[in-house]
Amino acid sequence: MKNTPSDIKHAASLLKAGKLVAFPTETVYGLGGNALSDEAVAKIYAAKGRPEFNPLIVHVRSLEDANQYVEFNDMALKLAHDFWPGPLTLVLPRRSDCTLSLLVSAGMDTVAVRMPSHTLAQALLHEAGIPIAAPSANRSGRISPTEAAHVHEELGDRVAMVLDGGPCHVGIESTVVDCTGDTPVILRPGSVTEAEIRNQKSEIRNISDFRLPASGFRSPGMLASHYAPSCPVRLNATDVKADEALLAFGPQALNGALHTQNLSPSGNLQEAAANLFRMLRALDASSPRCIAVMPIPEEELGIAINDRLKRAAYTK
Ligand code: TXA
Ligand code: MG
Repeated sequence: MKNTPSDIKHAASLLKAGKLVAFPTETVYGLGGNALSDEAVAKIYAAKGRPEFNPLIVHVRSLEDANQYVEFNDMALKLAHDFWPGPLTLVLPRRSDCTLSLLVSAGMDTVAVRMPSHTLAQALLHEAGIPIAAPSANRSGRISPTEAAHVHEELGDRVAMVLDGGPCHVGIESTVVDCTGDTPVILRPGSVTEAEIRNQKSEIRNISDFRLPASGFRSPGMLASHYAPSCPVRLNATDVKADEALLAFGPQALNGALHTQNLSPSGNLQEAAANLFRMLRALDASSPRCIAVMPIPEEELGIAINDRLKRAAYTK
């Protein structure tokens, strides 16, 4: 948006020199580093304070590029054809000659790959000519950034440059699908919904269908507490106290809160997803005793929204 071609060139040269650059995608802002370099990937973990068992998504320009690093089966090819470029991440086996830093896989034999549709992300990938490892550009466990200013708040000078593409229009992270077995498994619900995937590929399972092995995670990033504001979060609120902030949804926002933000006065789930992280962040900044959240329908994009809200509300 506010970026000239020379900003993109500069960002690409920083990435190639092993520095970190935050950039917008259609979902949320990513904290990018050269996915071929152990040193650059280690810097990403350090800047976020991210646990090292939690692997990173590698962003690529094209299916052909992704194919150099991971092995696509027919199911993954179909999903990539149907949803790329876009907010779908595929977890696939690493090729034996894969040149990506082992750190992106955090000790697993798979890599999560995604081809973003955002024009700035695409321009950066093309200019840099390297795969970019990028988690969401927030400190670990905190709310994902959907505007350049949020990245500055989260990471300050831990990042060499932030490309500003304005607000992310989807606002919620990509759907992560494990394609290493016979049936795709949704590891993280996201902006491509289960129903959209099912339309293309009738068989699909959800991570919640599995009993997780006691030793280790099938989906390492799905920590119970995540996306957390600094105050407590109360879900499915049907009333609100005067010292609470309210995250409302729909035409009948509750009255009497300290501050109110409405995710979508008309009850539109796309609009709610796009507003979710910005509004949570703004309510948190008003230092309420608690953020009360009105019920969101558990359907379509509401499934991903509720997933993020449950993690924001999680208390040990
Ligand atoms: O929309 C998005 O996906 C954003 C933008 C920047 O692309 N990225 C993002 O990255 O949300 P991050 O690191 O915050 O979340 C990546 C998720 C984590 O839950 C992680 O555990 C999972 O993907 N993941 C990454 N590699 C994996 C792998 N090899 N196997 C299983 N899960 C993996
Ligand atoms: Mg994240």
